[in-house]
Amino acid sequence: MALNFDIFKPKTPPLFGMDISSSSVKMVEMVDAGKGAVRVERYVIEPLPRDATLDGNIANLEAVVEAVQRAWKKMGTRTKNVAMALPSAAVITKKIIVPAGLREEELEVQVESEANQYIPFALEEVNLDFQVVGPAPSSPDEVEVLIAASRKEKVEDRVAVAQAAGLRALCMDVESYAVQTSFELIRQTLPGQGVDQNVVLVDIGANVMNITVLRNDQSIYTREQAFGGAQLTQDIMRLYGMSPEEAEAAKRSGGLPENYEAEVLRPFMENVALEIQRAMQFFFTSTPYNSVEHILLTGGSAVIPGLDDVVNTRTQVSTLVANPFANMAISPRIQLKKLVSDAPSLMIACGLALRRFDP
Ligand SMILES: Nc1ncnc2c1ncn2[C@@H]1O[C@H](COP(=O)(O)OP(=O)(O)OP(=O)(O)O)[C@@H](O)[C@H]1O
Ligand SMILES: [Mg+2]
Repeated sequence: MALNFDIFKPKTPPLFGMDISSSSVKMVEMVDAGKGAVRVERYVIEPLPRDATLDGNIANLEAVVEAVQRAWKKMGTRTKNVAMALPSAAVITKKIIVPAGLREEELEVQVESEANQYIPFALEEVNLDFQVVGPAPSSPDEVEVLIAASRKEKVEDRVAVAQAAGLRALCMDVESYAVQTSFELIRQTLPGQGVDQNVVLVDIGANVMNITVLRNDQSIYTREQAFGGAQLTQDIMRLYGMSPEEAEAAKRSGGLPENYEAEVLRPFMENVALEIQRAMQFFFTSTPYNSVEHILLTGGSAVIPGLDDVVNTRTQVSTLVANPFANMAISPRIQLKKLVSDAPSLMIACGLALRRFDP
């Protein structure tokens, strides 16, 4: 899905993907490795101070800009063009049907008049984008058009971050679409390319756990929980009297007191597994489906050792930790082991980096 809120013109010169999430700024740059292959050239994850972003919005511009500048320096690229994404909640999408063969200007008029009917803001206040999806299912003389709209300020906030950091926002995608792009890469590696299979995509970030069931290229169920890796960090802080930074480091590198595994980590993992099991039950009762074929763990907390086993044991569903880079060439300057461990949290940034190769 290639959306481009219309202030940005599509033609894409070299660019990298930049994901501004609640815990960090993540950048991924890919290059053309020839013969249609793509190589991961460099990436960086730069922590953000607490409350720099709030519910996907830029809350502290200065703090975010500084983190972006640090990240860009560490990346060591010369590219200044970026693809960014808006939080899915900030974007309203709708599919409409219009006559086939309209000229671009005619299509624009149609889209605007349709948009007027369902967008709860004045059109001057929104960035509007649309894309012809394909022929309408019901009639060969019509086409389906996807419209996406977002408040101008949401787009402008992100553009402003890039600008203040000396970068240029070339594309503005939507986070869920960028995830979908990365998911498609992973789906290719599933048995039977995952065709007609239900895959539970679990994103365990810092503050939010997002569970989506995907079938082919459609999202057919979604559920969100205010729960994530930050809970685990807080438990560590509280129990062992550590600062946030100490707790975060200890969580990643181990070396916590002996009772940590049994009394803190294990309950956290069981909680995650239980949430997934619950979501699956809701999915079964609210849709015609009664099975899922795979569970895919994404987000920074997906790499907690043993989490996949705990989830698998509880749900009895094959559980994988996401790596959208699995089939890509990797630059020798990247540490492979580190990339594999960071990969689950790079789903959005990876999807955005791939925008460079849009036709
Ligand atoms: N090696 C690791 N072991 C355990 N936890 C980790 C590891 N690496 C990252 N995390 C945790 O993953 C979380 C960050 O994940 P991610 O980057 O996906 O979140 P986010 O997208 O910033 O947050 P959200 O999706 O909630 O907005 C943090 O809680 C962090 O402590
Ligand atoms: Mg996230």
